[in-house]
Amino acid sequence: MPAWPEFDRGGVPGLRILITSDLHFEATGPEAIRRFVAGIDREAPDLVVVGGDLGYPLHLYEQCLALFLVLDCPVAVLPGNQDIWTSPGTSSIALLEEQLPAIVRELDFHWLENDPLVLPGGIAICGSLGWYDYSARVADDGDLQRIVARKDGFCLDAEYIDWEYTDPQFSDICRERLLRQMRALEDNPRVSCVACVTHVPVFADQYEPNPEDERWCRSLPYLANLTLGEALRTFPKLRYLISGHMHSGLQGVVERDGLDPIATAVVGSGYGRPRWLVLEL
Ligand SMILES: [Fe+2]
Repeated sequence: MPAWPEFDRGGVPGLRILITSDLHFEATGPEAIRRFVAGIDREAPDLVVVGGDLGYPLHLYEQCLALFLVLDCPVAVLPGNQDIWTSPGTSSIALLEEQLPAIVRELDFHWLENDPLVLPGGIAICGSLGWYDYSARVADDGDLQRIVARKDGFCLDAEYIDWEYTDPQFSDICRERLLRQMRALEDNPRVSCVACVTHVPVFADQYEPNPEDERWCRSLPYLANLTLGEALRTFPKLRYLISGHMHSGLQGVVERDGLDPIATAVVGSGYGRPRWLVLEL
């Protein structure tokens, strides 16, 4: 993995931030997650960010997250799309707005959705679930009605998400929430560098195009939110953008006219094969 770009910390010692995502407790199992968290502990991070898709249903989400209690450092948590799949007695909105934040806070972790962390040395961490809005669709994918109609053949969210929003509508909500945080961090004189974590990728260099793989191309509308990336790239302080959801690790750079580039990455967890990446700031 190439080195992350440097930035001026004003003499404050660096931070070691470890980011993971897509742990899928139901596939990975408690023993493997316990060993995984022990490995995280040996990395001696200053902060751990868990980027969503921890476990389904809710009691497995809670069991997965509780295994992080052995860590000495703060743990910040974002939701993934699978974390808000419905099961009897709950709804996607109740999970997102009430039940998941309550579990996270009960464990004394930080619910990162809508609540950024400002760390020593002028570093801020923010994040969002960042829902897909079909902006990653390929040119011959047809109109939006066709993409909506065939979603259930490509994405289990079609079956397990129960809100009335369309995907673009819910993407707008996530985008506005995150941009509000970004504007506040941009205006905060204590912040010089922002690292943003989104469950869903927001830049095209966060996934392989694979144009010869038709099924992959047809699944792209439900995998990323490039509209959010276009908005995020205008924020000068944004220097790092890390995502999950893709189950395939990748690292890149988004160049910007007149602004510092944004280093991008995707956490390379496979299904039942969790991974982390280290962000040295
Ligand atoms: Fe996901």
